[in-house]
Amino acid sequence: MILSIYISFMAMAHLGSARYIMYLTGQHYVVPEPSLVSDISHVALAFMQSSIFNEAQPSVWPLFTTVSAVRSQFAKDTAILVAIGGWGDTEGFSKAAATEASRKLFAKNVKAMVDYTGADGVDIDWEYPGGNGEDYKTTPNSEKAWEIQAYPILLSDIRSALGPKKIISAAVPGLRRDMLAFTKETVPKINACLDFFNIMTYDLMNRRDNITKHHTGLQLSLSAVNAYVDNGVPPEKANLGFAFYTKWYKTDPHGGCDKEPIGCKTVLMEDPTTGADLGQAGAFSWHDQVPVELEKSFEKALGNSMYDIEQGGNYFWDAEENIWWSWDTPEAIDKKFPSIVKQIGLGGVFAWGLGEDAPNWTHLKALTAGVKTVSKSRVSNSVDYAMKGEL
Ligand SMILES: *[C@@H]1O[C@H](CO)[C@@H](O)[C@H](O)[C@H]1NC(C)=O
Ligand SMILES: *[C@@H]1O[C@H](CO)[C@@H](O)[C@H](O)[C@H]1NC(C)=O
Repeated sequence: MILSIYISFMAMAHLGSARYIMYLTGQHYVVPEPSLVSDISHVALAFMQSSIFNEAQPSVWPLFTTVSAVRSQFAKDTAILVAIGGWGDTEGFSKAAATEASRKLFAKNVKAMVDYTGADGVDIDWEYPGGNGEDYKTTPNSEKAWEIQAYPILLSDIRSALGPKKIISAAVPGLRRDMLAFTKETVPKINACLDFFNIMTYDLMNRRDNITKHHTGLQLSLSAVNAYVDNGVPPEKANLGFAFYTKWYKTDPHGGCDKEPIGCKTVLMEDPTTGADLGQAGAFSWHDQVPVELEKSFEKALGNSMYDIEQGGNYFWDAEENIWWSWDTPEAIDKKFPSIVKQIGLGGVFAWGLGEDAPNWTHLKALTAGVKTVSKSRVSNSVDYAMKGEL
């Protein structure tokens, strides 16, 4: 009996482990020692440009590294994906999605790239089908409405070209206002083509907002996940996004932040006509140099940040400089596991991005610990089940 429980345990331990995905970016191409990455199941190399795949016969596949170089830096069974697109890189997808011929060409080239690089699949980062991308003020969403129907067809053509064994994931928006292409009608079609969804539950406050929020807050993240699940994403195919970076935003000196810093007014952060960044908000990773003009405020923030239990988020409001700071501490990362990952039964998590947490790897370690709690709880459920079966 002990032996059979042991065998069930071993079998379930593998099946029950959560997906643990890291974007590895060209901006911060740093990989820690093997013991820190041994639990990572997938790495997505960000990014390859979308427009390459519209060329008649591309002969080069520009990327900041190679799949084989990265493969050697991770555990043997880690899947290596090439992420295509990224913020601001929408034109190539739009062009690809437009006609049957352009979709087929794009899909054929994705297959050629995967064959050439030896990748295990692709991550499609179209931000976003249907609009609200970087160019939303200059190319209105009304001109992109057709993409909402075309997006699932493009994914379907990519799936047909790659076959069932390669991995296809998509990075999908975390704010409901950006989920233009993810409706009750389209999500089942999208789901049929994908292995999993990377729900970008960060930047949930951005320069288009006018009140302070937690950029990767617990309640906002939960709301994002629920939006997808409600529209037909199976929870086990959804991954929760984590941010290994800090965001800051200038608040309005007369915006009421002294009375209540959460939900108080910011200054105008984006040009309402052009959509241009007005320099009143920004981000930097744990690996970046803190911008000189923010050093003093950030030091205060690091030493005095608080956790908002109601909305779920670590924050600091600098009263002297009128700056709202928002980032996840290891504790804030930890809290999302029982409240979101376990609660909804999500299949995994991901972070943007691995090297962004160098050189201390504090957030990576917290995320790995969280992943172990969900993998373990599934294992112990399975063991309970196996034991009941025995009895
Ligand atoms: C603040 O943003 C909301 C939408 O996020 C908008 O409805 C509202 O008009 C904005 N308020 C101001 C003062 O710009
Ligand atoms: C990394 O650790 C060192 C030494 O403990 C510390 O001085 C530094 O501030 C840490 N860096 C970050 C980004 O946390």
